[in-house]
Amino acid sequence: GPGLCLPNLQVLLFIFWNPPTTAQVTIEAQPAKVSEGKDVLLLVQNLPQNLTGYVWFKGQITTFHQFIIAYKIDSRKITVGPAYSGRERVYSNASLLIKNVSRKDTGSYTIQIIQRGDKTKGVTGHFTLYVDIPKPSISSSNLNPREATETVILSCDPDTQNVSYLWWINGQSLPISGKLQLSENNRTLILFNVTKDTAGPYECEIKNTVSSSRSDPVTLNLLYGPHVPRIFPPSTYYHSGKALYLSCFADSNPPAEYCWTIDGKFLQSGQELSIPRITTEHSGRYGCSARNSATGRVRSTFKRIKVFGKWIPASLSTGF
Ligand SMILES: *[C@@H]1O[C@H](CO)[C@@H](O)[C@H](O)[C@H]1NC(C)=O
Ligand SMILES: *[C@@H]1O[C@H](CO)[C@@H](O)[C@H](O)[C@H]1NC(C)=O
Ligand SMILES: *[C@@H]1O[C@H](CO)[C@@H](O)[C@H](O)[C@H]1NC(C)=O
Ligand SMILES: *[C@@H]1O[C@H](CO)[C@@H](O)[C@H](O)[C@H]1NC(C)=O
Ligand SMILES: *[C@@H]1O[C@H](CO)[C@@H](O)[C@H](O)[C@H]1NC(C)=O
Ligand SMILES: *[C@@H]1O[C@H](CO)[C@@H](O)[C@H](O)[C@H]1NC(C)=O
Repeated sequence: GPGLCLPNLQVLLFIFWNPPTTAQVTIEAQPAKVSEGKDVLLLVQNLPQNLTGYVWFKGQITTFHQFIIAYKIDSRKITVGPAYSGRERVYSNASLLIKNVSRKDTGSYTIQIIQRGDKTKGVTGHFTLYVDIPKPSISSSNLNPREATETVILSCDPDTQNVSYLWWINGQSLPISGKLQLSENNRTLILFNVTKDTAGPYECEIKNTVSSSRSDPVTLNLLYGPHVPRIFPPSTYYHSGKALYLSCFADSNPPAEYCWTIDGKFLQSGQELSIPRITTEHSGRYGCSARNSATGRVRSTFKRIKVFGKWIPASLSTGF
């Protein structure tokens, strides 16, 4: 393997060194904040002159076991060591690229910069890399469940090792309820027979000993209804020759489709019924039906309308 191929380098590592001289070398990460799966470049600045090469180590100790990668300037030769993961690259300007970082890459990095001539002279630089927890997101087995009948499984993604998962509903910690059930590691949440109370918004958080990150909120679009429709206005008695305006409403998601009947016969569809000039012939039992295509449910309500000719009994006049 590549770790075994170390011409001159082993020698180079072990004759090195007296304590680091004044640290003029600076290292910065680009980007400054890196999250899992992304690449990071450890940029080395203020390099001294007249160099023969660089050696990168994982950690603060410059032992062979910690040796990641080395670059020899004259030959442009790159050598890798036991701490090399296959994701590191070293450039001729000493910078180290780490691809596809994971939280295992968190920690300190040391570069030894070897100057020409006296091999016991050199400079070291240190850098501590922090890898952010990724921002989680909630996925749902069903974003449009039917009220009180469907079970929904929410997952907090990604599935990551060595973290705890936490959930919130309406910004509060989860209530103890037979309607909610967490998986063993708390990454998934099962919602039984979802209702308005349990439709959300939900948020999840990934947390480890040093940091945490919270998802955007997710609210389920509950499909419900229609509830029993109501007909407006409530009046029952009308004068012949007047206009009749009726409207019907039933709470429903998605909104209901409506149709009207008189004495069981279809009259028209639509939420409003309008007859410009009524006669006594228009007396009857008016029905409004509300239908929700998503839940497949239909609810109806009925109202008796009486149209009078010339006069109206005084005892009924309150209806005008
Ligand atoms: C070193 O080389 C890399 C790769 O070419 C480049 O991205 C980086 O900016 C260079 N660093 C400096 C300090 O010039
Ligand atoms: C990045 O690393 C993870 C493991 O940490 C691996 O599962 C994934 O395939 C890698 N992605 C790429 C693009 O190499
Ligand atoms: C570089 O190192 C060589 C060999 O030790 C030395 O002769 C030379 O003066 C050095 N140059 C600079 C600019 O330090
Ligand atoms: C998770 O923890 C175990 C035991 O502490 C450790 O061996 C492993 O490397 C950790 N995994 C990650 C991705 O940090
Ligand atoms: C899951 O969450 C509960 C609180 O909701 C907590 O008491 C428990 O320790 C958590 N389990 C794990 C494995 O994180
Ligand atoms: C969900 O609803 C079904 C049918 O209405 C019922 O049998 C079941 O007990 C309910 N489950 C829970 C956990 O409330």
